Amino acid sequence: MKTFVLASLASLIVAGGVGPTYSQETDSARGERLFQQRCGACHQLATTRNGVGPHLQGVVGRTAGSDESFKYSPALKASGVTWTAETLETFLANPAAMVRGTRMTQRFNNVEERRAIIEFLGSR
Ligand code: HEC
Repeated sequence: MKTFVLASLASLIVAGGVGPTYSQETDSARGERLFQQRCGACHQLATTRNGVGPHLQGVVGRTAGSDESFKYSPALKASGVTWTAETLETFLANPAAMVRGTRMTQRFNNVEERRAIIEFLGSR
């Protein structure tokens, strides 16, 4: 918390001096915004409700395709993947290349955005 406050203060000071307004956004706020924009249409994080995709609460450390409340593709269920920062990184860059036959097909090409989103997921 202390670090968070200090980091926010530092970025406020920087933004007040030279930086454009968006530099006031903290990393975790950025991760949250990107999650809502890129994943939020299909995935819930604040609740365990499923949508087009499964909820992602506590997804880091979970075995792929293991939430009983969601009907996954047979491919994802059989993948044997455990979600870590590394496997998420590979999956998001190209889901179908990692898990052939997955129903999540959208690729996320921006590495900075992927990292921010994964870090945010890891904090929930
Ligand atoms: C267009 C809808 C859609 C979008 C957008 C989307 N996903 Fe998915 N996602 C899915 C579907 C559908 C599945 C289930 C795939 C399957 O069963 O093969 C899934 C599965 C997943 C899984 C596996 C979960 C588990 O329980 O094993 C992760 C992790 C995931 N998505 C992360 C993300 C992230 C992070 C984003 C945003 C960068 C995102 N998804 C964007 C539809 C989407």
